[in-house]
Amino acid sequence: MAEPPARIRSLNRRESNLAKTLEVAIVLAAGEGTRMKSETPKVLHFISGKTIIDHVISQVSKLSPGTLRVVVGAARDSVEEHIKQIAPTVEFIFQAERNGTGHAVQVALADLKIKGTVLICAGDTPLLRSETLAQFIDVHSESKNTVSVLTAQFPDPTGYGRILRNEADEILAIIEELDAPDEIKMIDEINTGVYLFDIDALRTSVAKLKSDNSQGELYLTDVIADIKASGGRAAAILSNDYSETLGINDRSQLAECAAIMRDRINYEHMINGVEIIDPTTTWIDASVEIDSDATIFPESWLAGTTKIGSKAIIGPRTTLMNVKVGSSASVIESNCVDCTIGAGASVGPYSYLRAGTNLGEGAKAGAFVEIKNSTIGEGSKIPHLSYVGDAEIGSGTNIGAATVFVNYDGVEKHKTKIGDEVRIGSDTMLVAPVSIGDGAYTAAGSVITDDIPAGAMGFARSKQRNILGWVLRKRSGTKSAQVAKAAGANESSEQGS
Ligand code: UD1
Ligand code: CA
Repeated sequence: MAEPPARIRSLNRRESNLAKTLEVAIVLAAGEGTRMKSETPKVLHFISGKTIIDHVISQVSKLSPGTLRVVVGAARDSVEEHIKQIAPTVEFIFQAERNGTGHAVQVALADLKIKGTVLICAGDTPLLRSETLAQFIDVHSESKNTVSVLTAQFPDPTGYGRILRNEADEILAIIEELDAPDEIKMIDEINTGVYLFDIDALRTSVAKLKSDNSQGELYLTDVIADIKASGGRAAAILSNDYSETLGINDRSQLAECAAIMRDRINYEHMINGVEIIDPTTTWIDASVEIDSDATIFPESWLAGTTKIGSKAIIGPRTTLMNVKVGSSASVIESNCVDCTIGAGASVGPYSYLRAGTNLGEGAKAGAFVEIKNSTIGEGSKIPHLSYVGDAEIGSGTNIGAATVFVNYDGVEKHKTKIGDEVRIGSDTMLVAPVSIGDGAYTAAGSVITDDIPAGAMGFARSKQRNILGWVLRKRSGTKSAQVAKAAGANESSEQGS
C-alpha cells in the first residue's frame, strides 16, 4: 500500500508530465547581494553566458505559470531592464525596503486576486531545473498539501535554514542559522528556499508574520508552523540532487555553481556525440550549438551564439564568441569574435579573427594572422603573419607572408578589393583604397598604392643595387669580411667576372 501522502519524504524520480497547472510563480530578487562585493547586482552576474536570474526565470517559465512575478528592490532599474529583455511578460513587484523574505511575499501578494497554487523561489539559485520543479509540483498536488518545502541534504549546511521534523517525518518548522541552537545546527537537511503554497492560505499566514527573530525580519519560513497550526497540511520534500539547489551569495559560490553548470552543459554535448577532450577546462555557454563528431580540445571557451558544424576541430586554447564554424573546419589556439568560418577552413595557430570576418569554404587564416571586417573567398589562403582589414578577397588567392592591408590613413578606414587567383608577394603593403584585378601578382616587398589590372604584375619598390667590396672596405677585420674574402670578394668596387 502507498504511504500516506503527508509522509512522502522525497521527490519521485519518474518524469513529470506537468499535468498540474501552476497559477502563479514568484521569484524573490530584491536582496542587496552585499556578499558579492560588486557594483553589478548579484542576479545580473553571469554563468555560462546567461545571468543568474535568466537561468532561474527560464526554468520557471518552462512550467508555464499563469502569472510570473519577480520581486525587485536593490538595483531595481538595471534588474528590471534586463528581465524585460529576456522575459517580457514578467510582472515586477517593487519591495521598497527589504524587510525579509516574508515581507517580500506580502508585497508580492498584496494585489493578487488569483486562487490556486503559487511557486516561490529565490533569484539566486540558477542550477534548479524545471524537471525538478515539475516533480515537486506533482508531489505537492498529489499529496494535497497546503504548503510544500523543497529541502536538500547538504554536506555543509552552514548558513541555510534547517528543517525540523518530528518522528513521523513531518515538518515542524524551519530554523534559520542565526536563530539555531547548536543541536539544530547539526541538522543537515536544509530549506532550499523553493516552496509551493495554496495562495489563500499563504496570504492569511504571511499577514501574521512577526519580526521577533535575530535578524529583525519577517521570515517567510515562519509560515510553515502557522499553516500547520491553522490545520493546513505541510510537507518537507527532499530533492534528489542537492547541487541543484545551491544558492549564490558570494563569488566563491558563483564559481562553484558555474563549474556545475559547465559540467552539465558539457555532459549534454558529449551525450549528443561531441568529443570534449577535457571537460574540466572546456567552457561552453548554454546558448552554443555543436553538431555531433566535432572535437573540442582543452582550455577552450565557446560563447554567445556560436555554432559548430560536425567534424570541426576546435582548440586547444581557443575562444569563439558568436562564431559560426562550418563542418570539418579547424580553429586552433585562436580567438575569434562575431565571424563566420566556412566548411573545411582552417584558422591558427595564434590567429585573431575580429568582427565581420567571413572566411570562405576551405580558406585558410594561418599562423599569427589578424583579420577584421573582410570576406575571404573560397580556398583563398593567408598563411602567415598578416593583417587583413576591410578587404574583399576572391577565390583561390594567396596572400604572401607578412602582407599588410593598410586600411587606415590615420583618419578614415578604406577598402581593398582583390580578385580571384591573385598572388600577393610576401611583405606587400596594400595601401587602401586599392583594387587588384583577377590573376594579378604583386612583387614581394611592394608598397601598392595604385590599382593593378587583371593579369598584371605590380612592382613597387626600388630596384636593387649591389655595392661590391663594401664589407671589406667599411667593415674590415670582422668575421663577415674574413669569410667574404675567403669566398673570393675583394676591396674593389669594380664588377668581377
Ligand atoms: C533564505 C531562507 C533560508 C534558506 C535560504 C536558501 C528565509 C528567512 N531564509 O535564507 O531558510 O535556507 O534562503 O537559499 O527565508 N529577498 C527579497 N527581499 C527581502 C529579502 C530577501 O526579495 O527582503 C530575496 C533575496 O534577493 C534572495 C531571496 O529572497 O533572492 C533569499 O534571501 P536571502 O537573504 O538570500 O536569504 P537567505 O539568508 O539565503
Ligand atoms: Ca540566499
